[in-house]
Amino acid sequence: MTVVRDTHHEAAEAPDAKDGWPDDNVALARLLTDRSSCRAFRPDPVPRETTERMLQLAQRSATWCNTQPWQVIVTEGEATERFRRALLARATKSVPPSVADQEPDLSFPTAYSGVYQERRREVAWQLYESVGVAYGDRAASARQTLRNFELFDAPHALIITSPTELGVYGAIDCGLYLQALLLAAESLGLGMVAQAALASYGPSVREFFGLSDNRLVVAGCSFGYSDEQHPANSFRSRRAPLGAAVRWEAS
Ligand SMILES: Cc1cc2nc3c(=O)[nH]c(=O)nc-3n(C[C@H](O)[C@H](O)[C@H](O)COP(=O)(O)O)c2cc1C
Repeated sequence: MTVVRDTHHEAAEAPDAKDGWPDDNVALARLLTDRSSCRAFRPDPVPRETTERMLQLAQRSATWCNTQPWQVIVTEGEATERFRRALLARATKSVPPSVADQEPDLSFPTAYSGVYQERRREVAWQLYESVGVAYGDRAASARQTLRNFELFDAPHALIITSPTELGVYGAIDCGLYLQALLLAAESLGLGMVAQAALASYGPSVREFFGLSDNRLVVAGCSFGYSDEQHPANSFRSRRAPLGAAVRWEAS
């Protein structure tokens, strides 16, 4: 009899602090395991010194040919408020907000099928359930999606751009940078969420910040201090086990 295992929905075993692993590894495991996307923030601003520390650490990211292609805009104070208003106005230009109205510089995925669709649905439902959006309530789920453009009330946003001429690999380098930012934020007690949503309207973001046409808007983040009591921050997304991602070749 063939036993079919649903490997895609088995939770990945979290790396833990098992005896024998070096302290640095245990510290990294903790950062990777404890970090999660923050989708509700307290209003308190992050001291410039702390944000600079996070950015300095992320500067150490590896890049192809050490090009370090990212340019980053960080908003504080009134600039965050202006950006929030501009983004929301752009996102609600078409009513209801529509995917057809988006103009990302880098194409968004054209489809999610199989396990990708399952994982995407699962995490979406974890979020909706946490904030009380009922299955099938499209107005409420659209409202939750719009929270992206309100920066989830964060006191800061961050936009990452890459030079057009570096193409896909410039964007990959920015992805590594993004991961480093997320871990650095976690290590500093900050909440952060990576947001492709902030790249939905490339031309508008470029215009807002006065960026030249040869910079691609790759992604953005909202960050600050997590509102830990907020239901949107109450769930943890799952990961597939190694077997679903890795194939060993030994001979
Ligand atoms: C490149 C990238 C883009 C993302 N875009 C969004 C986004 O637009 N809105 C959002 O709420 N989360 C976004 N996320 C967060 C993912 O949904 C999240 O990382 C994933 O579900 C795993 O959950 P975790 O971060 O809590 O571990 C993005 C993450 C990445 C890496």
